[in-house]
Amino acid sequence: MIGRRVFVTRRIANPAFDILHGAGAEVRIGQSVEEEGLSRHALLDGVRWCDVLLPLLTEAIDREVLTANPRLLGVATCAVGFNHIDVTAATELGVPVSNTPGVLTDSTADLTWALILAVARRVPEAHAYMTAGRYRIWGPNLLLGADVSPGGSGQQKTLGIVGYGRIGAAVARRASGFDMRVIAHDPYNRDGIEAAPHVEWANLADLLADSDFVTLHPLLTPETHHLIGSAELRRMKPSAFLINVARGPVVDETTLVRALEEGWIAGAGLDVYEDEPAMAPGLASCPNAVLMPHIASATKDTRERMATMAASDAVRFLRGAPAENQVNPTVYGTAAYRQRVSS
Ligand code: DGY
Repeated sequence: MIGRRVFVTRRIANPAFDILHGAGAEVRIGQSVEEEGLSRHALLDGVRWCDVLLPLLTEAIDREVLTANPRLLGVATCAVGFNHIDVTAATELGVPVSNTPGVLTDSTADLTWALILAVARRVPEAHAYMTAGRYRIWGPNLLLGADVSPGGSGQQKTLGIVGYGRIGAAVARRASGFDMRVIAHDPYNRDGIEAAPHVEWANLADLLADSDFVTLHPLLTPETHHLIGSAELRRMKPSAFLINVARGPVVDETTLVRALEEGWIAGAGLDVYEDEPAMAPGLASCPNAVLMPHIASATKDTRERMATMAASDAVRFLRGAPAENQVNPTVYGTAAYRQRVSS
């Protein structure tokens, strides 16, 4: 091993620590209190101390963090999304980055469907109605929602998937049980969409206009920031629903609140927020919004797998070996990387 110390910013699942300790690593946890974050000061302190950093999406791993320790051998984030890391700076500085792709695909696709069903069938409102003791008599007009499958009208519904990577494809597969037409848009995966059975390619404007449910799964990049804003929300049908399980800034949240309040669309299911954990003013009072605290991958098994994947790549970094799940593979060819692992 060329390094020993791993700084885990917040407490993750225990099997990850078995892997780290089993490899002989010295581990420091920055924050063990579940619902508290790590201060910037503690983050920088931990980075200066460690050889490998194992952060969560709640910490901004920017250039200041990456330059705080010239001996840093790698950043093994416990997340599939890596928009919290300045990957360009990491590559330039010779710091390899890894993530946890694949293992959270099913859990995230399942939660996408939980949001689709919850918002269309008004599940949180119905639950609140029951727990408030308001159910006195069955009613023919009580809590009427929208069908996801053809339902009473016999009209097939259209699911529009924006971002057709692993998660988008898993969401599409689940749609067959609801007898839906599935259309998808992803400028980086048109071939994947066209090759998928029962999925049709659509440009974004057509997808928004045609879909009864729009689900969002792109990476957050400068191109996808506010991908869904005023013009896009106005293109959607007034009866349609928007689901976001990707990253909050993909949607202009202030405008979404307006769209929900003024009925431009019928409802939204959100797991992520533009300025997380804050919500845009008014969002929490929209009865047609189903809101979750970024839990799409939050099953016991999935979070354990994510943690062990991140720990395994952290151990590879300690050994000066390339990560299995490489975010910036080009880093391994750089002089800056070679210098890190040889010094
Ligand atoms: C991720 O991994 O990027 C999710 O947002 C949280 O699991």
